[in-house]
Amino acid sequence: MTDGAEVRLRPVLESDLAMIRRFLTEPFLIGLDWSGFGDAQQPARRFAKDGYLGEEDGRLIPEVRGQACGLMSYRQGLYSGRAKYWEIGIGLLPEWRGKGIGWRAQALLTEYLFSHSPAQRVQAGTHPENTAEQKSLVKAGFQLEGVIRACEFRAGAWRDGYLYSRLRDDPAPEVTPLPEHPTS
Ligand SMILES: CC(C)(COP(=O)(O)OP(=O)(O)OC[C@H]1O[C@@H](n2cnc3c(N)ncnc32)[C@H](O)[C@@H]1OP(=O)(O)O)[C@@H](O)C(=O)NCCC(=O)NCCS
Repeated sequence: MTDGAEVRLRPVLESDLAMIRRFLTEPFLIGLDWSGFGDAQQPARRFAKDGYLGEEDGRLIPEVRGQACGLMSYRQGLYSGRAKYWEIGIGLLPEWRGKGIGWRAQALLTEYLFSHSPAQRVQAGTHPENTAEQKSLVKAGFQLEGVIRACEFRAGAWRDGYLYSRLRDDPAPEVTPLPEHPTS
C-alpha cells in the first residue's frame, strides 16, 4: 500500500537522536520499563559507531507517513549454547499509542528478523500489568510461554515478567494498513 497509512520500519537517523534522548531522560516516557536516568550522550556515541545496526543488537524506528512514532529494539540471545534467537522491545511515544501501530510494528520487526537471519525464535517479555503490550504481541502472532519469576528489579522490587514468543513457522498475521490516518 502506498496511501501513507501503513506502518514502516527504518534505521535510526541523526534527527531521531533527540527522541531517543527523551526516552533516556524523561521519567516513564518509555512506560513501565523506566529504570532511572540514562546517559544522554550515549545515543550520539552509538549512532556514530554503527547507526544502531549492530550484529548482535540494534534499533529501528517505526514510522507512519514519515513521522517517527517511537523506538524498537532487537537483541540476540543464545539457548543451549548454539541456538541464536532475538528478543525485541518497543516504546511508542504517548501520542502514537492506541492507534494500531504497536502490533503492526512488532509483526514487521519479527518478519524482518526471520527474513535476514536463520533464527528459529523471536521472543518478547512484558509486565503482568501491561495489557496493551500483551494484546499487541498476540496480535503480532506471539504466544504466551509463561511467567519468568522475579526477572526484573523495577520500582523498588523484584517483579515477575511474562515471556512471549513467535517461532519461524508460527502463523504470521497479515499486516494491514492502519484503519484510519492517525496524526500525532
Ligand atoms: C505497548 C505498546 C507497544 C502497544 O502498542 P499500541 O499501538 O498502543 O497498541 P496496539 O495497537 O498494538 O494494540 C493492541 C491491542 O491492545 C489494546 N490496547 C491498546 N492500548 C491499551 C491499553 N492502554 N489498555 C488495554 N488495551 C490496550 C488495543 O485495543 C488492541 O486490542 P484490540 O485489537 O482488541 O482492540 C504501546 O502502547 C507502547 O509503546 N506503550 C508504552 C511502552 C511499552 O509499554 N512498551 C512495551 C514494554 S514491554
